[in-house]
Amino acid sequence: MEKPKAVLFDAYGTLFDVYSVGLLAEQLFPGHGAALGVLWRDKQIEYTRLVTTSNDGAHYKPFWELTRAGLRYACKRLALDLTAAHEERLMNQYRHLSAFPENKEVLAALKAKGIVTGILSNGDPEMLGVAVRSAGLEDLLDHVLSIDTVRKYKTHPDAYALGPKATGLEPKQIAFVSCNGWDALAATWYGYRTLWVNRYQLPFEELGTQPTRSGSSLRDVLAFF
Ligand code: LAC
Repeated sequence: MEKPKAVLFDAYGTLFDVYSVGLLAEQLFPGHGAALGVLWRDKQIEYTRLVTTSNDGAHYKPFWELTRAGLRYACKRLALDLTAAHEERLMNQYRHLSAFPENKEVLAALKAKGIVTGILSNGDPEMLGVAVRSAGLEDLLDHVLSIDTVRKYKTHPDAYALGPKATGLEPKQIAFVSCNGWDALAATWYGYRTLWVNRYQLPFEELGTQPTRSGSSLRDVLAFF
């Protein structure tokens, strides 16, 4: 099979470590940092699906707002007192998430091979811009694609369609990389070649389709070439 001509990466959970907020959460709410990190993330993703599937997107809000709403919900659910100051600190931390350490070398290796690189994310353009600059990745990415332009979150096909549209390639000529099993699955259904990076030794989704490849770090994307 022909080698992919482009690689698109999911952002949150894949290039940027969403659970890195857990450290600050643990400082603010001792004993609850890990639980808050997980519930916050789950609610944020649940809200993306809720606004995409309800009333033809009439309730769409950018990812930043859904992230804040998810934080508020998660704190209420865990009976944690989220003061305005705590909320600002946690949201600010989310804006500056740690990047996984292998990102740069993998992107540089792809660029050296002449592969087109990019991000295709639920994040809104401002959030993505800050995260990309904080991680020093701006010179290594040809495209930073936000679903905000179509106002439909992954896993809507209009969201995945941004990749072929921006690159002028067929989905099967693009490798899509995600650490989120549901994202790797839906991208495979869409028609991309996919790498699921299983950072947390989780089982893959049980819906009958497997990603093209599985791995344990972003370095595994190089196996496509
Ligand atoms: C993103 C979410 C899914 O970056 O992590 O699109």
